[in-house]
Amino acid sequence: MKIGVPKEIKNNENRVGMTPAGVFELVKNGHTVYVQSTAGEGSGFFDDDYLQVGAIILDTIEGVYLKSDMIVKVKEPVDQEYNLIQENQLVFTYFHFASSETLTKAMITSKAICIAYETVEDADGTLPLLTPMSEVAGRMAIQQGAKYLEKPIKGRGVLLGGVPGVPPGRVLILGAGTVGIQAAKMAAGLGAHVTILDINMKRLRHVNDIMPSHVVTEFSNEYNIRRHIKTHDLIVGGVLIPGAKAPSLITRDMLKEMHPGTVIVDVAVDQGGCIETTKATTHENPTYIIDDVVHYCVANMPGAVPYTSTVALTNVTLPYVLKLANMGWEKACQTDKSLQKGLNIVKGTIVYEGIAEAFGWEVSCS
Ligand SMILES: NC(=O)c1ccc[n+]([C@@H]2O[C@H](COP(=O)([O-])OP(=O)(O)OC[C@H]3O[C@@H](n4cnc5c(N)ncnc54)[C@H](O)[C@@H]3O)[C@@H](O)[C@H]2O)c1
Repeated sequence: MKIGVPKEIKNNENRVGMTPAGVFELVKNGHTVYVQSTAGEGSGFFDDDYLQVGAIILDTIEGVYLKSDMIVKVKEPVDQEYNLIQENQLVFTYFHFASSETLTKAMITSKAICIAYETVEDADGTLPLLTPMSEVAGRMAIQQGAKYLEKPIKGRGVLLGGVPGVPPGRVLILGAGTVGIQAAKMAAGLGAHVTILDINMKRLRHVNDIMPSHVVTEFSNEYNIRRHIKTHDLIVGGVLIPGAKAPSLITRDMLKEMHPGTVIVDVAVDQGGCIETTKATTHENPTYIIDDVVHYCVANMPGAVPYTSTVALTNVTLPYVLKLANMGWEKACQTDKSLQKGLNIVKGTIVYEGIAEAFGWEVSCS
């Protein structure tokens, strides 16, 4: 199969859909891989690295789309790419269709086969192509939180690990899922005192089993949240109710109960955030302050660490890319039920429930 890897053109997106390791595997399996010149640079992979493992470097994005049977990328196509996508071309990337009617209509018109990373789903309901980004964001939440706790950037002036004779900082984590556990691990590693809340007792039991004793689990309810926000320096929002907006666990009135300079990192911002005062920010301007509380609400946190994020993402996408290339999309989706769940739009027809629903369209999914 001919596989194309275009350079991402979405603002500030430095990840790339395939590393040289991925090209190596595909070429070994007899496929041809076209990589757009400088596509990997933002993630630290240069044209020479791709050439050495057998890729063909093309100068233009038009060339990559024109020559390829399958496009492998990271972000949803942007409007400059809509007309480059061809009938029967397979596009494997994050799409998040429900959040863009324009993109959905464009992909229906293109008659391409759209397999979305975010809906590939394992039998136990986990989303294997989303997990690595939550792992990155959870770990980053503590790195960013520790930085914004510094006084010159309006934080409380607390060092998370403390020093001999001074107690460590206190980190409150809402949600003990992928984001929450990775954040707890990082905060505990720095020596901070960690309190982690969830409504799922299985998760809390798991955290209690695997974490050191300075990571304390508690049930998530308003009483406990109101109590803990008064004594914690850094608050991480990592809750998720699948398919729904995140619940506002910290309301505006609660900010006044916090110490001035408390930092909130609301990772759940992409689902509306679990703090009432959350509004999405960017890496250029990541924070704002309300009632002396620093809010960090960057919606694409992994974008700040493109090397780690690209490798983490492509580690999990490559087995599917290989399967699609070796078997073709129809056979690959028939034999792999997880991958089948990734099918969103096939040759002009929506096949994933939820997309039509999101726009109130009356379309029956086949
Ligand atoms: N900002 C970013 O760059 C970025 C990156 C990756 C993920 N995310 C987002 O982070 C969020 C968390 O993702 P995840 O992979 O950890 O999800 P997850 O499903 O693994 O974990 C979510 C946890 O929230 C818990 N929860 C639900 N309601 C709760 C409540 N009222 N109180 C406490 N806990 C509650 C669930 O029981 C679950 O354990 C999602 O919204 C995800 O989209 C954001």
